Amino acid sequence: MSKYTLSVNGQSKTVDVAPDTPMLWVLRDSLGLVGTKYGCGIGECGACTIHVDGSPRRACQTPVSEVGRAAITTIEGLSPDGKHPLQRAWVELDVPQCGYCQSGQLMTAASLLKQDPRPSDAEIDKTMAGNLCRCASYTRMRAGIKRAAELAASGISDKGGRE
Ligand code: FES
Ligand code: FES
Repeated sequence: MSKYTLSVNGQSKTVDVAPDTPMLWVLRDSLGLVGTKYGCGIGECGACTIHVDGSPRRACQTPVSEVGRAAITTIEGLSPDGKHPLQRAWVELDVPQCGYCQSGQLMTAASLLKQDPRPSDAEIDKTMAGNLCRCASYTRMRAGIKRAAELAASGISDKGGRE
Protein backbone atom coordinates (compact mmCIF):
# COMPACT_ATOMS: atom_id res chain seq x y z
CA MET A 1 0.00 0.00 0.00
CA SER A 2 1.12 3.55 -0.68
CA LYS A 3 -0.30 6.97 0.04
CA TYR A 4 -1.39 9.16 -2.85
CA THR A 5 -2.69 12.71 -2.61
CA LEU A 6 -5.02 13.33 -5.51
CA SER A 7 -6.93 16.32 -6.84
CA VAL A 8 -10.51 15.15 -7.30
CA ASN A 9 -13.31 17.51 -8.29
CA GLY A 10 -11.30 20.45 -7.01
CA GLN A 11 -10.55 18.88 -3.63
CA SER A 12 -7.37 17.32 -2.30
CA LYS A 13 -7.88 13.69 -1.27
CA THR A 14 -5.39 11.24 0.21
CA VAL A 15 -5.83 7.51 -0.29
CA ASP A 16 -3.78 4.52 0.83
CA VAL A 17 -3.91 1.88 -1.88
CA ALA A 18 -1.70 -0.40 -3.97
CA PRO A 19 0.07 1.47 -6.80
CA ASP A 20 -1.67 -0.52 -9.52
CA THR A 21 -5.17 0.15 -8.18
CA PRO A 22 -7.30 1.51 -11.03
CA MET A 23 -8.73 4.98 -10.44
CA LEU A 24 -12.19 3.41 -10.88
CA TRP A 25 -11.82 1.61 -7.55
CA VAL A 26 -10.08 4.53 -5.86
CA LEU A 27 -13.03 6.75 -6.77
CA ARG A 28 -15.75 4.25 -5.93
CA ASP A 29 -14.32 2.33 -2.98
CA SER A 30 -11.92 4.77 -1.31
CA LEU A 31 -13.69 8.06 -2.01
CA GLY A 32 -17.33 6.96 -2.30
CA LEU A 33 -17.77 8.63 -5.69
CA VAL A 34 -19.98 5.94 -7.18
CA GLY A 35 -21.21 7.95 -10.16
CA THR A 36 -18.32 6.47 -12.14
CA LYS A 37 -19.46 3.01 -13.24
CA TYR A 38 -17.80 -0.34 -13.76
CA GLY A 39 -18.83 -1.85 -17.07
CA CYS A 40 -16.21 -4.08 -18.67
CA GLY A 41 -13.01 -3.37 -16.74
CA ILE A 42 -10.94 -3.70 -19.91
CA GLY A 43 -11.25 -0.27 -21.50
CA GLU A 44 -13.91 -1.24 -24.02
CA CYS A 45 -17.21 0.24 -22.86
CA GLY A 46 -16.56 3.77 -21.57
CA ALA A 47 -18.83 3.44 -18.51
CA CYS A 48 -15.91 4.48 -16.28
CA THR A 49 -14.96 7.62 -18.23
CA ILE A 50 -13.56 10.48 -16.14
CA HIS A 51 -11.51 13.55 -17.05
CA VAL A 52 -7.80 13.74 -16.27
CA ASP A 53 -6.59 17.29 -16.79
CA GLY A 54 -9.66 17.86 -18.94
CA SER A 55 -9.24 14.88 -21.24
CA PRO A 56 -11.47 11.80 -21.13
CA ARG A 57 -9.80 8.72 -19.65
CA ARG A 58 -10.93 5.21 -18.80
CA ALA A 59 -10.75 5.03 -15.02
CA CYS A 60 -10.54 1.23 -15.18
CA GLN A 61 -7.30 1.53 -17.17
CA THR A 62 -5.71 4.35 -15.17
CA PRO A 63 -3.58 3.18 -12.23
CA VAL A 64 -3.56 5.58 -9.31
CA SER A 65 0.25 5.72 -9.44
CA GLU A 66 0.09 7.35 -12.89
CA VAL A 67 -2.17 10.23 -11.94
CA GLY A 68 0.10 12.40 -9.82
CA ARG A 69 -1.47 15.82 -9.17
CA ALA A 70 -3.46 15.88 -12.40
CA ALA A 71 -6.96 17.30 -12.00
CA ILE A 72 -9.45 14.44 -11.83
CA THR A 73 -13.07 15.26 -12.64
CA THR A 74 -15.88 12.77 -12.17
CA ILE A 75 -19.56 13.08 -12.98
CA GLU A 76 -20.05 14.42 -9.45
CA GLY A 77 -17.74 17.32 -10.29
CA LEU A 78 -18.90 18.05 -13.82
CA SER A 79 -20.87 21.05 -12.62
CA PRO A 80 -20.92 22.57 -9.13
CA ASP A 81 -24.71 22.88 -9.24
CA GLY A 82 -25.66 20.04 -11.58
CA LYS A 83 -26.64 22.48 -14.32
CA HIS A 84 -24.07 21.72 -16.96
CA PRO A 85 -25.80 22.20 -20.35
CA LEU A 86 -25.58 18.46 -20.95
CA GLN A 87 -27.32 17.71 -17.67
CA ARG A 88 -30.05 20.22 -18.49
CA ALA A 89 -30.48 18.77 -21.97
CA TRP A 90 -30.49 15.19 -20.67
CA VAL A 91 -33.38 16.03 -18.35
CA GLU A 92 -35.24 18.08 -20.94
CA LEU A 93 -35.09 15.35 -23.60
CA ASP A 94 -35.36 12.44 -21.14
CA VAL A 95 -32.26 10.90 -22.70
CA PRO A 96 -31.33 7.96 -20.42
CA GLN A 97 -33.03 4.60 -20.37
CA CYS A 98 -31.56 2.45 -17.57
CA GLY A 99 -28.96 5.16 -16.95
CA TYR A 100 -26.03 2.84 -16.24
CA CYS A 101 -23.76 4.12 -19.02
CA GLN A 102 -24.80 7.73 -18.74
CA SER A 103 -22.14 9.23 -16.49
CA GLY A 104 -19.47 7.94 -18.84
CA GLN A 105 -21.44 9.22 -21.82
CA LEU A 106 -21.76 12.66 -20.24
CA MET A 107 -18.05 12.91 -19.46
CA THR A 108 -17.14 12.04 -23.05
CA ALA A 109 -19.76 14.44 -24.40
CA ALA A 110 -18.57 17.23 -22.07
CA SER A 111 -15.06 16.86 -23.41
CA LEU A 112 -16.39 17.00 -26.98
CA LEU A 113 -18.35 20.21 -26.35
CA LYS A 114 -15.33 21.81 -24.74
CA GLN A 115 -13.32 21.14 -27.89
CA ASP A 116 -16.13 21.93 -30.33
CA PRO A 117 -19.15 23.85 -29.01
CA ARG A 118 -21.20 23.05 -32.16
CA PRO A 119 -20.29 19.50 -33.20
CA SER A 120 -21.77 17.93 -36.34
CA ASP A 121 -23.70 14.66 -36.24
CA ALA A 122 -20.69 12.89 -37.73
CA GLU A 123 -18.36 14.36 -35.13
CA ILE A 124 -20.72 13.38 -32.32
CA ASP A 125 -21.03 9.83 -33.64
CA LYS A 126 -17.26 9.50 -34.03
CA THR A 127 -16.46 10.84 -30.57
CA MET A 128 -19.18 8.90 -28.79
CA ALA A 129 -18.47 5.62 -30.61
CA GLY A 130 -16.27 4.36 -27.77
CA ASN A 131 -19.04 4.66 -25.19
CA LEU A 132 -21.38 1.71 -25.38
CA CYS A 133 -25.02 1.77 -24.31
CA ARG A 134 -26.79 -1.54 -23.85
CA CYS A 135 -30.13 0.28 -24.06
CA ALA A 136 -29.12 1.80 -27.41
CA SER A 137 -30.06 5.35 -26.52
CA TYR A 138 -27.63 6.65 -29.12
CA THR A 139 -30.11 8.73 -31.09
CA ARG A 140 -31.39 10.48 -27.99
CA MET A 141 -27.86 11.09 -26.74
CA ARG A 142 -26.94 12.72 -30.03
CA ALA A 143 -30.03 14.94 -29.76
CA GLY A 144 -29.07 15.73 -26.17
CA ILE A 145 -25.58 16.83 -27.17
CA LYS A 146 -27.02 19.10 -29.86
CA ARG A 147 -29.52 20.56 -27.41
CA ALA A 148 -26.75 21.14 -24.86
CA ALA A 149 -24.79 23.02 -27.51
CA GLU A 150 -27.84 25.23 -28.10
CA LEU A 151 -28.31 25.83 -24.39
CA ALA A 152 -24.68 26.78 -23.93
CA ALA A 153 -24.71 29.08 -26.97
CA SER A 154 -27.89 30.85 -25.89
CA GLY A 155 -26.83 31.27 -22.29
CA ILE A 156 -30.01 29.47 -21.13
CA SER A 157 -27.87 27.29 -18.91
CA ASP A 158 -24.69 28.14 -17.11
CA LYS A 159 -21.65 26.43 -18.50
CA GLY A 160 -20.79 24.64 -15.28
CA GLY A 161 -17.59 22.64 -14.95
CA ARG A 162 -14.49 22.92 -12.83
CA GLU A 163 -11.88 22.57 -15.52
S1 FES B 1 -15.32 -0.20 -17.28
FE1 FES B 1 -13.73 1.04 -18.06
S2 FES B 1 -14.02 1.00 -20.21
FE2 FES B 1 -15.51 -0.40 -19.45
S1 FES C 1 -28.97 3.90 -20.81
FE1 FES C 1 -28.87 1.79 -20.27
S2 FES C 1 -26.84 1.23 -20.77
FE2 FES C 1 -27.05 3.19 -21.60
